[in-house]
Amino acid sequence: MPKLTIIEFNGEAHHLEAEAGKSVMQTAIDALVPGIMADCGGSCSCATCHCYVDDAWVARLPAPESAEREMLECALDPQENSRLSCQLRLTPQNDGLIIRLPKSQV
Ligand code: FES
Repeated sequence: MPKLTIIEFNGEAHHLEAEAGKSVMQTAIDALVPGIMADCGGSCSCATCHCYVDDAWVARLPAPESAEREMLECALDPQENSRLSCQLRLTPQNDGLIIRLPKSQV
C-alpha cells in the first residue's frame, strides 16, 4: 500500500496508507483530512480538491491532462506544482508522495 503524507496549511501532517489505484482526494476524504472539499466528487469540474505537490515529486508524477490543466485555472493561488488531488492516482511508483494543502482551503 503506497504511503501518502498530506500537510495542511497549518502544518499538521497526516500520514496515510493508501489503497493502490485510489485518488489522493478520495484517500484524504476517507481519512477525514480537512481542507479537501471535493464538491464534484472527483469528476474534475470544481477545483475544490486543489493541492500542491511537494517539489521532490513534481517531475515523478504523470503530467496533468488538458481537463485538469483547464480546471486548475479556476483554483485559488495556483502555483507551478498545483494539481487536482482527484486526478492523482496512488500507485506503488509514488509511494511516499507528499502533498500540501493551500491556504484557500483552510
Ligand atoms: Fe472536483 Fe477534484 S473533486 S475537481
